[in-house]
Amino acid sequence: MRVAVVYNLRRGVASVGEAGAGFAGLEAEYDTFDTVDALRAAVAATGDEALAVEADLDCLGNLRRLRPDMVFNIAEGLPGESREAQVPMLCEMLGLPHTGSGPLTLALCLDKGVAKRVLRDAGVPTPAAVVMAPGAPVAGGPLRFPLFVKPLREGSSMGVTPESLVRDEAGLARQVRRVHAAYGEPALVEEFLPGREFTVGLLGNGEPAVLPVTEIAYGEVPAGYPPVYTYGFKREWDDARFYHCPAPLEPALLARVQRVARDTFRCLGCRDVARVDLRLDAEGTPHCLDVNPLPGLAPGFSDLPRQADAAGLGYGGLVRAILDAARARYGI
Ligand SMILES: Nc1ncnc2c1ncn2[C@@H]1O[C@H](COP(=O)(O)OP(=O)(O)O)[C@@H](O)[C@H]1O
Ligand SMILES: [Mg+2]
Repeated sequence: MRVAVVYNLRRGVASVGEAGAGFAGLEAEYDTFDTVDALRAAVAATGDEALAVEADLDCLGNLRRLRPDMVFNIAEGLPGESREAQVPMLCEMLGLPHTGSGPLTLALCLDKGVAKRVLRDAGVPTPAAVVMAPGAPVAGGPLRFPLFVKPLREGSSMGVTPESLVRDEAGLARQVRRVHAAYGEPALVEEFLPGREFTVGLLGNGEPAVLPVTEIAYGEVPAGYPPVYTYGFKREWDDARFYHCPAPLEPALLARVQRVARDTFRCLGCRDVARVDLRLDAEGTPHCLDVNPLPGLAPGFSDLPRQADAAGLGYGGLVRAILDAARARYGI
């Protein structure tokens, strides 16, 4: 099989400028050359021929010319409100099979407010929230402080800093305005969940397999740093002390966490692979915070490859499992 890895390449991680000091720019989500290369090598190691195609303005023409048998999609897309859906949409236009979720799911999960409406409709716990658009009055309304403010349509902890956790109306107004100014998009304001935080990798379809769960180990961070998985946290505290995988979970709680993750995967229409971020509320109930149908695949760094290592699959096994799940769906 000829497999084309389709990606957006990171060329530098600028912040979003004056208005967003401390906020990461869009390229934070893009992949490094090393990740693309490792992925291409892992695809080749399965015995397939591996090509690499950048998801730029020439992508449609390049895919049309190359006609791969499968697109291995890790592209976050060019700036836009449904950017993660761009490459799967090109595949749909060209009739090319691709790994992972389709355009509808990718666009849906990128808009955290819409994703939450689908989750609520399916009875999956997710924190109470309000979307605040630029220009509209800012007020906590029915939500109970402390609250958490993040951009509606970003990932990779973009726009998430220690100040995202706000305790009063003044803090809320300040942080909502910062999100508006830095990203030019609505802010999602959620009730803050104070409990343990996990991220759960899923592989396959139907009843997807759940990889060993990762706990973000806030007990290890310096005193005074709030329990929030910021962009700075990911970059500065990247060793095993801050990530417990497999998480020390007693069986009943593990089952509940897995259940919420699988229900999330299914109700949003995810395919082949996804990572779901969950957090416990004050009563210990797991809630879905965030759905990542294009989880990071940086070997040894991103959560999913680390989980695959803990499962004994390794990076190669992870890549093969994603390809196998996609092939099975298309009957290839
Ligand atoms: N409602 C919330 N309550 C508590 N922590 C939150 C909440 N929303 C986000 N966070 C914290 O912010 C981090 C990033 O938020 P998330 O929704 O996962 O965005 P991203 O798409 O950038 O990963 C989470 O991993 C968590 O630590
Ligand atoms: Mg997240």
